[in-house]
Amino acid sequence: MRSKNEKVRVGIIGVGGIANGKHMPNLAKLPNVEMVAFCDIIRERAEQGAKKYGTPDAKVYTDYRDLIARDDIDVVHVCTPNRSHSFITIDALEAGKHVMCEKPMAKTYAEAKAMVEAAKRTGKKLTIGYQSRHRADSSYLKKIIEAGELGEIYFAKALAVRRRAVPTWGVFLDEEEQGGGPLIDIGTHALDLTLWLMNNYEWESVMGSTFKKLSQRENAANAWGPWDPKKFTVEDSAFGFIKMKNGATIILESSWALNTLQVGEAICVLCGTEGGADFFDGLRINGEKNGQLYTTKVELHHGGVAYYEGKSDDPGYLEAKRWIDAVVNDTDPVVLPEQALVVTQILEAIYTSARTGQPVYNPAVRK
Ligand SMILES: NC(=O)c1ccc[n+]([C@@H]2O[C@H](COP(=O)([O-])OP(=O)(O)OC[C@H]3O[C@@H](n4cnc5c(N)ncnc54)[C@H](O)[C@@H]3O)[C@@H](O)[C@H]2O)c1
Repeated sequence: MRSKNEKVRVGIIGVGGIANGKHMPNLAKLPNVEMVAFCDIIRERAEQGAKKYGTPDAKVYTDYRDLIARDDIDVVHVCTPNRSHSFITIDALEAGKHVMCEKPMAKTYAEAKAMVEAAKRTGKKLTIGYQSRHRADSSYLKKIIEAGELGEIYFAKALAVRRRAVPTWGVFLDEEEQGGGPLIDIGTHALDLTLWLMNNYEWESVMGSTFKKLSQRENAANAWGPWDPKKFTVEDSAFGFIKMKNGATIILESSWALNTLQVGEAICVLCGTEGGADFFDGLRINGEKNGQLYTTKVELHHGGVAYYEGKSDDPGYLEAKRWIDAVVNDTDPVVLPEQALVVTQILEAIYTSARTGQPVYNPAVRK
């Protein structure tokens, strides 16, 4: 960045669903940001982004290498499908940009590790779009955990369970493009949230199962309309049993299609020695006080004020604001790339275990 008073100049790579739904509208709310470059392999998408959110002289590209070659861009947001997260991010870091990359960090651990190494090598910042950490409920829970109110958290469930909500746009069903189905797509949010709340990143072993039981149905009922079974090459549900070095245990459940009524996405259940917490029916804390069990439902709205201008606690807005603040003030982003790397490693271990039928051990922990 040139000077603290100048605006942060941002380029968007991949101008599809998440760029339009989260990144661009929230960056547009920040007075110290301007979006000056837009890239999509489908030119019209980049043009539409530029027209709606760009500066009057914003440029449009179909090859991301042309965008990152500019030396007047400070920050790049990578919003392409999973296959290209790693190489676009690394190229952008090498070109001197700070990078916000969408989740999942990458298709594989090796790709994600190369991203962390590139950030270290270049001294540029890298973060991943896990916006669930910025929700009012998870932020509040993080504070009370840090205050010791749950004690030692030794059992957790990381949940990303949909009954029938298979994403039918883009390339979500394509193994080659995405590296997997619900586990890597939404399980990644739930696991990130759980590890962050537990503040425990040392995993020891993983067992996993993946299923393709409902994906081959024709004309299936689905929130986003029927899918094409021939294109559905990823799993439709996946489950993991994760044991941490200190013995803590996490069960991860993820599905796009599963015959269950117990659904919930990017949430978790935490059980500690002093209390527990879950996100069913809002954030609830449970425990034992004065010889009785209690459950507290946390009220997270603002004292009866429905809305006043300037106030926003939308997680997508807070994610963008805190990220840009970290760039301007040269501080750590909320989501550290090293944390997202562990999430990627565990997800890969679940896939490997499901394929081989064997547990996967963390070589750094179990020598
Ligand atoms: N944080 C979240 O909750 C969340 C939600 C949805 C999607 N995502 C992530 O965002 C990413 C994109 O998902 P989406 O729903 O926006 O998909 P999408 O298909 O709607 O958009 C992706 C866009 O990238 C473009 N693209 C593909 N390859 C490109 C390349 N090499 N260079 C430039 N543009 C390219 C496509 O043409 C498309 O417009 C995925 O990794 C997904 O996991 C995150």
